[in-house]
Amino acid sequence: MNELENFLKALSNYLERFNYLTASFNHRINHYSELETLINKYSHFITNVENQEVWNQLQKQKNCDLNQVVDHLRNKSALCVAIMEKYRAMKLLNGETEITDYFKNIESCIEKEFGSFQITPDSKVLLVGSGAFPMTPILIAKRTGAEVVGIDIDDEAIELGLKVIEILGAELNIRLEKKPVEYLGFTKDATHIIFSSTVKDKYIILDQLHELTNEDVVVAMRYGDQLKSLFNYPSREVDEQKWNKVENVLRPDDVFDIELYKKMPKFISHV
Ligand SMILES: C[S@@+](CC[C@H](N)C(=O)[O-])C[C@H]1O[C@@H](n2cnc3c(N)ncnc32)[C@H](O)[C@@H]1O
Repeated sequence: MNELENFLKALSNYLERFNYLTASFNHRINHYSELETLINKYSHFITNVENQEVWNQLQKQKNCDLNQVVDHLRNKSALCVAIMEKYRAMKLLNGETEITDYFKNIESCIEKEFGSFQITPDSKVLLVGSGAFPMTPILIAKRTGAEVVGIDIDDEAIELGLKVIEILGAELNIRLEKKPVEYLGFTKDATHIIFSSTVKDKYIILDQLHELTNEDVVVAMRYGDQLKSLFNYPSREVDEQKWNKVENVLRPDDVFDIELYKKMPKFISHV
């Protein structure tokens, strides 16, 4: 087999494993180590420079089947990450703690998240897609003292997330809510907003946020393009009348990159 065939075979194997592990999730810790190993392997696969070269070659072929496999892989791997967070939360509730490469990757990212727009103790941080193991809210609240609100669409993620916070950060100023941004009072007060990379509708929500937020808000959009789009929803064009991309933080060794947005200044008439 040549390099391209090997790459495509690897994608189809990953998809098969992700399908199996999502289908066998039964809200108990059954396949934790299998899923953890697979996600760690996949994280290395998508940050591997050699695979990027193969990816570039495949893109030149404009292969429709490949696009379909990529869509499936992205959706399934996002689901697997959400499940892994649930397993990790359940393990913590059972008194076991350990940390995988994927989680280390996220944690190292938090330090660099807002580039030159640092979070201070007075900041109000909103996380869209907080997950069952809300380490972004916990680390931000712990390191900065800021108030943090996480939202999620998944009841089980909110329920487990609240229990994790009770264990790891009961003293911290963190709230989790199952509310969309338009029904959340905190949205208008937020100084910093972070989108989890695996939130499919993140650019639709970003567009919506223009009306709902204050003028000084800064948004960190986690995303993954090219090879990283196998594991993340990719970047999109935004309405330039609404949002101005002020920084693009590329992180070659990490699973996702970050775009920073500020609101476009309102037009001031001099008439
Ligand atoms: C992998 S997890 C959380 C990421 C990780 N805990 C972190 O701190 O970056 C992504 C979460 O996003 C949630 N999610 C997906 N779409 C969403 C949406 N439209 N609004 C809020 N949460 C969403 C999922 O239910 C999932 O729990």
